[in-house]
Amino acid sequence: MDYNLAVIKGDGIGPDIVDQAIKVLDTIGTKYGHDFSYKEVLAGGAAIDATGEPLPQETIDVCKNSDSVILGAVGGWQWDHLPGEKRPEKALLGLRAELGLYANIRPAVLYKELKAACPIKDEIIGDKLDFVVVRELTGGIYFGKRGQGKGENGDYSYDTMMYSEMEVRRIAINAFDIAMKRGKKLCSVDKANVLENSRLWRKVVLEVAKDYPEVELSHLYVDNAAMQLVINPKQFDVIVTGNMFGDIISDEASMITGSIGMLPSASLGNSKLGMYEPIHGSAPDIAGQDKANPIATIISMAMMLRYSFDLEEEAKAIEVAVEKVIEEGFRTIDIMSEGCIQVGTIKMGELICERI
Ligand code: IPM
Ligand code: MG
Repeated sequence: MDYNLAVIKGDGIGPDIVDQAIKVLDTIGTKYGHDFSYKEVLAGGAAIDATGEPLPQETIDVCKNSDSVILGAVGGWQWDHLPGEKRPEKALLGLRAELGLYANIRPAVLYKELKAACPIKDEIIGDKLDFVVVRELTGGIYFGKRGQGKGENGDYSYDTMMYSEMEVRRIAINAFDIAMKRGKKLCSVDKANVLENSRLWRKVVLEVAKDYPEVELSHLYVDNAAMQLVINPKQFDVIVTGNMFGDIISDEASMITGSIGMLPSASLGNSKLGMYEPIHGSAPDIAGQDKANPIATIISMAMMLRYSFDLEEEAKAIEVAVEKVIEEGFRTIDIMSEGCIQVGTIKMGELICERI
């Protein structure tokens, strides 16, 4: 099969890690007889420098016409002074909205060989931690009405958190479907003790639950969820939550695994077109130095093969290759520990290709 991919390398370490991900995809293509073609487009800081806009129309068009989008990372200190609408992050938000990618899937997995990097005590973690955060991605306070003005207490500004039933229902269905394929346990995170839109969220989740009698559903307020993630993360299998809470909870989830450089993500909508990226940022301080860990981006390619192209065997081949390389003791600097072999970004990519 032929697959047309839009590639946004982005800023900072984005180009370093995406190059390795493409190498891995090409290796898969050769082995399994697929043809991946790539169209590189600009977004984020790189696009601001080249065109003055974080998300040029051409980028949106190419992405919409592709089979899926590969993204490295966007942002950096160079563009921090820009107003909200012109910042590199606007590219990410714009792409999510333009492509209708309302479901953000962020697995949090502890690799047993990397347990030393996990900041939580052994007796709490045990030897396995494997859950997934399903974050609503195109609604809530990120996309609500916002504004500013001058009042008697000085300047004011506001952002509105709004959800419609439709938006909650579709992300809930998505999360229940994922739960059915995993441990059949779903925790919905909201702030229904305070927020009106969280009460709607909870009502709709409960309605959707009627279609999934096998799934054990629970609800947590977001503050409690943040605490539970630290004191008893093993209780979670699938977590579903809104855009803002999901942003925060998913960073926490990734950090408790100690593997922020290892974790992939998928952003999905109603079609097969998805956007695949590592959950970490652009790390401008180590850009272009062959230091970045490409594994999160490489495993994101496995998610793409699985979710967008239904290529389960190929997806597994990538995941197994990554596990092997880790088992054999190869580490990029971010996950390096005593007795292991330190390698750079490019070497890590090569090792994974060889194992495939
Ligand atoms: C993320 C990031 C983005 C978000 C930023 C960079 C706009 O933190 O993908 O989690 O807040 O969604
Ligand atoms: Mg975030």
